[in-house]
Amino acid sequence: MSSPSGVKSKEKAGPPEPAGDLKRELVNGFFVLFRTAELYAPSHPSYQKQAEHLLAVIAGLQEREGSVLLETLDGHLFVNEARLKFDFEGFAASKFVVGLLTSHNLGGFSFEPGLGREELDRFVTLFKKPPDELEGLADLFAREKIARIVPKQKVEKEDPKKLEKLEGSRAAARKTFVTAVSLVETTMATARAGKGANLNAAKRVVQELVDQIVADEAALMELAALKHYDGYTYAHSVNVAVLSISLGTRLGLDKKSLALLGFGALFHDIGKVKLPADLVNKPSQYNEDDWKQMRRHPVFGAKTVILTRGTDDYTGRAVEIAFLHHVNYDKTGYPELSEKTVPGIFPMIVKICDSFNALSSGRIYFNKPFSPDEVIQKLIAGMGTQFDPLLLKIFVSTVGVFPIGSLVLLDTGEVGIVYKTNPENIYRPKVRVIAEPSGTVSEFRVVDLSERDQNSGQFIRNIKRLLNSHDYGLDLSKFLYV
Ligand SMILES: [Fe+2]
Ligand SMILES: [Fe+2]
Repeated sequence: MSSPSGVKSKEKAGPPEPAGDLKRELVNGFFVLFRTAELYAPSHPSYQKQAEHLLAVIAGLQEREGSVLLETLDGHLFVNEARLKFDFEGFAASKFVVGLLTSHNLGGFSFEPGLGREELDRFVTLFKKPPDELEGLADLFAREKIARIVPKQKVEKEDPKKLEKLEGSRAAARKTFVTAVSLVETTMATARAGKGANLNAAKRVVQELVDQIVADEAALMELAALKHYDGYTYAHSVNVAVLSISLGTRLGLDKKSLALLGFGALFHDIGKVKLPADLVNKPSQYNEDDWKQMRRHPVFGAKTVILTRGTDDYTGRAVEIAFLHHVNYDKTGYPELSEKTVPGIFPMIVKICDSFNALSSGRIYFNKPFSPDEVIQKLIAGMGTQFDPLLLKIFVSTVGVFPIGSLVLLDTGEVGIVYKTNPENIYRPKVRVIAEPSGTVSEFRVVDLSERDQNSGQFIRNIKRLLNSHDYGLDLSKFLYV
């Protein structure tokens, strides 16, 4: 049981697992052991099995890499400095471990050689207590004779090495985003020329979008928050795909379904290629005749997708989404359907994300973009009529009451931009401070509004009010994406 091949995570004995798998298994094993400990005493066989498994994983990693250091930074997990990416199934485990560490204000644990069952059991039992009963952790560890698991202090956010890794995932996100935008552009141009577009490249790019959102949602969501692009329709299509995939992950869709959803979202407006370009790009308000034409794009869209080469589940979903994304939850909207059934979940997801992005981008047929909170208010006003109420509630918790990109004034006098939403508390996102109370522009600094003062237990910072970036003439992309 001491060698990595002794790890019983697979039924059959196979080749030794790659180190990355063992690192993820460390997180998973940790999660399963704590969950099992909630139900069973350390003497129970179910608990014993999981404890032995975790020890075997730790021993396996020690054998390969000499040490085992599990850390969290900015919501991500690292083992021996390597950032772990989790697939859909691994999400719960990583969330649990990050939650456990942050609730105890810890940066991580290192597992030292010689760690045995009894010591591990004492450690697990200790952490079953709520965080406020674990004050003075170092003393408690000493009293419980836990020496081979060493708690690590929280790493400061500015640790350049770790930030570099986060920047890596941002760069990857940006690359995928740009590829997706140009792909939508080419596909639409082919469709406009009346040719059947080849959608295989789009399937690959959607797969990348799904992988990146599952691994690091924030990086792509940040991009989706930016508003200044050339070629509104193309960037809009990618934004809607990113938002739809994010909402889909919150709903627990598997990766295949996320890919189908993302693919359909990417081409929801493909029917616009059949409309005159001067109508689509008309800078002034639409008149009734313009709207009449515009309302034909869902039907054109379905036809255009059908004309593409190959019919499979991807194109099937794309037809459904293109055709139904302007039909409302109460069955009004367009096209008019003879059968008055509520559209399925995919078009309903895309509808919400489409409206959100169109309202916040200040699309050409609106006078000016709405501020993020106005957008949320407008969506909520359509709850139950335009939008599926349950999906909308989950969407609001995904983008937050203060979506990424909102400009906020804090009660400390600092001005900042919402940098990352907080699904645990939508009112307390992470904010990038851009101006100090004195008015001076601040260095790169991200504050977490869910952080409490250790003595008083009060939140350190609160949002006093939202500011409208358009009133200040600010280009938020400069601050969000440096
Ligand atoms: Fe549309
Ligand atoms: Fe759209």
